[in-house]
Amino acid sequence: MNDNNTIHLYHPTSNDGFAVNRLIAESPPLDANSAYCNLLQCTHFTDTCMCAKLDEELVGFVSGYLIPSRPETLFVWQVVVAEAGRGKGLASRMLREVLQRPICNKIDYLETTITPSNESSWALFKRLAENLGAELNVSVAFEKKEHFHGLHESEKLLRIGPFYNKHR
Ligand SMILES: CC(C)(COP(=O)(O)OP(=O)(O)OC[C@H]1O[C@@H](n2cnc3c(N)ncnc32)[C@H](O)[C@@H]1OP(=O)(O)O)[C@@H](O)C(=O)NCCC(=O)NCCS
Repeated sequence: MNDNNTIHLYHPTSNDGFAVNRLIAESPPLDANSAYCNLLQCTHFTDTCMCAKLDEELVGFVSGYLIPSRPETLFVWQVVVAEAGRGKGLASRMLREVLQRPICNKIDYLETTITPSNESSWALFKRLAENLGAELNVSVAFEKKEHFHGLHESEKLLRIGPFYNKHR
């Protein structure tokens, strides 16, 4: 895949939902979603989601939403970069650009959940916290036994913030 700068980042639309669904399905260890779920993300939540395209091909996606009862917190659901484009800063760039959108002006915290074994995801969010100069706290979100009936790794909750630099 080419240089990061030739990759176009934009608000998803319903026309992206199916390609997003396929990219996620091809990107373990992410949980695959229904196409319908990704279509809702690309439409109702487009302001907090991000698509990345290179030469008409979808190469990256971030899904996020403002937590309804805590709208000062952006929850990042999934981040994915096509395998050939990893390690070049695209995931970091997509997250930064979501945070720079007007809807995130009043965000004080970013939360996400990560399984203990997902090293690339830990590295991505630790680097983001460092670059934002923000604290990172880890707690338990969902437990393997209690919440997944033993069928899925536990999910740790990462909370990054508060953000003091609103200009990021
Ligand atoms: C996680 C993922 C989105 C990272 O995308 P990416 O574009 O390669 O990430 P970046 O290039 O922006 O890297 C951000 C930081 O993480 C580090 N990193 C990325 N992948 C890594 C890996 N496999 N091992 C260790 N560190 C890694 C980078 O070195 C960088 O840190 P640095 O600035 O200190 O060098 C990508 O690997 C992916 O799509 N994985 C499959 C899906 C997934 O697990 N998503 C995350 C869970 S929601």
